[in-house]
Amino acid sequence: MSPQACLIGWPAAHSRSPIIHKYWLKSFGIEGDYRIEAVKPEDFAAFIAGLGERGYVGANVTLPHKEQALKAADADARARAVGAANTLWFDGGKLRATNTDVEGFLGNLDEASPGWDKATDEALVLGAGGAARAIVFGLVERGVSTVHLVNRTLPRAEELARQFGVSVKPAAWDRIPALLPRATLLVNATSLGMKGEPPLDIDLNLVSASATVVESVYIPLDTPLLIAARKRGLKTADGLGMLLHQALRGFSLWFGKRPSVTPELRALVEEDLTRT
Ligand code: ATR
Repeated sequence: MSPQACLIGWPAAHSRSPIIHKYWLKSFGIEGDYRIEAVKPEDFAAFIAGLGERGYVGANVTLPHKEQALKAADADARARAVGAANTLWFDGGKLRATNTDVEGFLGNLDEASPGWDKATDEALVLGAGGAARAIVFGLVERGVSTVHLVNRTLPRAEELARQFGVSVKPAAWDRIPALLPRATLLVNATSLGMKGEPPLDIDLNLVSASATVVESVYIPLDTPLLIAARKRGLKTADGLGMLLHQALRGFSLWFGKRPSVTPELRALVEEDLTRT
């Protein structure tokens, strides 16, 4: 039988993952498939228990199942540290789980700003939700000495910092102007700038000219933050790059080939984002 993977979510209809994986299946000439499976939270455990019998070699998991997925499979250190799993695969009959948002963030950043990690002693991350957890984990893993973590709701940043250790320093939102000049990496992991949300209102003139600005929002593609950063001549890494890079590992785990993020794939997803 040809290999198949799926995205499990509720609702799941608007995901871009099928475009990405079907593009790679086609480019490798693999007769596989990547489907959407809309599964209610109360049906998730049973669905996962029968994943292999349904003919799946693995799956992506999205809202609201990411925490349940962590418990349903043998999760690696990344998924456990982030507190959520987004990719499942069978390893010798055993269902395993990881979180590929970490490498989505790191891979995209490595491509957009090679050598960023050698130039970064202090990073500033805005946000303390799921996206921020994966990003902070990646920064700590790469050895960034100090990660300033700013969040509107300070206790959420404090809790995340407690979990990740001394290199993560929580700070209140009004500390942003004081922290901006110190950071050579700035990451927006809030939903500010997303379609329908207010823009992230910070003064990029305070940031060092050698800094890199990373956006996690990808609708719209060009957020006010990215536009301002480019105008200031800063290096940037966008949210769509993160989305594309996080999909790489799932594909190789399921279909046994290492794909890459090509300009053609980017254009395909961009076109879909613009159309919908
Ligand atoms: P995700 O899993 O995508 O990270 P989330 O867990 O809902 O989503 O987190 C959204 C982040 O955006 C949070 O850090 C949130 O701040 P709070 O913890 O204070 O809610 C942040 N955010 C959302 N709207 C915001 C706003 N208007 N100003 C500042 N931060 C905001």
